[in-house]
Amino acid sequence: MPVNGPVPWKRADHTGAKHDIYRRYLQRWFPILLGGSNAYPSATYAEGFAGPGVYLDDHPGSPVIAVQAMLDKVPESDAIVKMIFVDDDQRCIESLRHQLTTRFPQRPRTPDAFRLKLAHGTCTETLEPSLDAMHAWGQPILAVLDSWGNVPVTFDLLARLAHNQSSEVIITLGTQPFIRFVSTMGQEADDVFGGDPTWRHIDTMASAQAKRQHILTCYRQTLSTAGFKYLLDFELVDTRGESLYLVFGTNHRRGLEKMKDSLWEVDRIYGVGFRDPRDEQAETLFELTDPALAPLGRLLLNRLEDAPATGCRVEELREFTLFETVYRPQHVIRTLNQLRANGLIASDEPGLYRRSRVRLAS
Ligand SMILES: C[S@@+](CC[C@H](N)C(=O)[O-])C[C@H]1O[C@@H](n2cnc3c(N)ncnc32)[C@H](O)[C@@H]1O
Repeated sequence: MPVNGPVPWKRADHTGAKHDIYRRYLQRWFPILLGGSNAYPSATYAEGFAGPGVYLDDHPGSPVIAVQAMLDKVPESDAIVKMIFVDDDQRCIESLRHQLTTRFPQRPRTPDAFRLKLAHGTCTETLEPSLDAMHAWGQPILAVLDSWGNVPVTFDLLARLAHNQSSEVIITLGTQPFIRFVSTMGQEADDVFGGDPTWRHIDTMASAQAKRQHILTCYRQTLSTAGFKYLLDFELVDTRGESLYLVFGTNHRRGLEKMKDSLWEVDRIYGVGFRDPRDEQAETLFELTDPALAPLGRLLLNRLEDAPATGCRVEELREFTLFETVYRPQHVIRTLNQLRANGLIASDEPGLYRRSRVRLAS
């Protein structure tokens, strides 16, 4: 990773898959908020770690993907689109400016209908004042906070976003910096977790998986305390086994559903697998053509262990799956049928439907 290295740099395997998720989500987000008769007067897309807008081999960076998604999906609308791109490397800002002007030579909207701000500075010091200056608050904001994984983002900004109208965050979390430097990292690392040092308990944990999971749990707690009601996190694993987490925070069920749809449609050509961080066996989900449902099966069995002896309704398990796992509700009945065929769960009904009850087999 080029901290003070050359700009631009080679696109990592994870990044292609991550961009595919951004693209698919933005192609849904822009029209929901800015298209149609229920459109908001304005919405803001903001990046705190924008990068140079391009990679070696000319792959577009996330700001270019965002502009393209907006143009593709809401070419015409009375709503005002605002975009803010912050980076603390001046070379990235200059490159991004060049990319945006050369890739979009015809400004498709008037400068008033499409307000663009590129700002040189750290996310901590520059993003919030830029949102203020653009009068972004009070209307939806999607903040993409794609740092090198160390997440230098203030809790106050997260809390302000969480309490702002229809606003969401997508955050890249790399657990390695925290695991490697736990003994030397100071207060700034606790600040990532809203000032709470609980993440440092990784010191006492033996396995790398347990440490990763603990950091993720602490970060989820941070976003939840900041005010995000629904969280979706998932692990992207490349062919060398290296992983990073994307954590999505929203207050809208629909946002969660759309992000899951985007995740499950992601193109397999990137060779990147996904994992549900809560799966004890850390099984990759997308290596085969069909989604691996075994991890969901384990999660559903754990859930049924906590249920009363009469079990619970399939509909409850669908809700659990939507809110507490990376799977979609549509995966539930298929998984329950497999568990039942393996004699692990039982039901009094011959077929399983949303209203059916299921319980652990005795
Ligand atoms: C992972 S790259 C961003 C990639 C970009 N979002 C994309 O997907 O095309 C991280 C960027 O954050 C910038 N950066 C690192 N620390 C920063 C900070 N504290 N504030 C703002 N930018 C920072 C780096 O210069 C780099 O361009």
